[in-house]
Amino acid sequence: MLYHNPRGISCAKCHGENAKGKIIAKYYITKNNKKILKKIIAPNISNITFEKLKKTLFPKKDILTIMPKYSYLTENEVEAIYLYLKSKGKK
Ligand code: HEC
Repeated sequence: MLYHNPRGISCAKCHGENAKGKIIAKYYITKNNKKILKKIIAPNISNITFEKLKKTLFPKKDILTIMPKYSYLTENEVEAIYLYLKSKGKK
């Protein structure tokens, strides 16, 4: 439930139903008169470590990333998401 509705934008929207990651957006830039395709990708998170998950959800620095902050999630909720992601990683 938390993966789909973490009291904020759903993780599944960016990382996909199975947490295997997906392309969020595609755009072109022009360099030396050449059109180059760029992609914004939400990575596969089905094999992430608990530490990495926590660091990503509670970033220390106030830097701007595409990945939103979820600093309001409790320790138990992060653990629940972690266990859910692990179950996806096994498939
Ligand atoms: C708006 C799209 C978006 C949403 C919503 C989102 N993410 Fe992300 N996430 C990203 C992107 C893009 C990255 C890659 C790093 C970056 O560019 O910020 C990322 C990175 C991560 C990483 C680090 C992966 C790595 O290998 O470094 C984890 C873990 C993660 N997200 C978990 C989650 C969880 C759990 C949720 C829901 C609570 C969530 N994300 C919601 C877009 C999103």
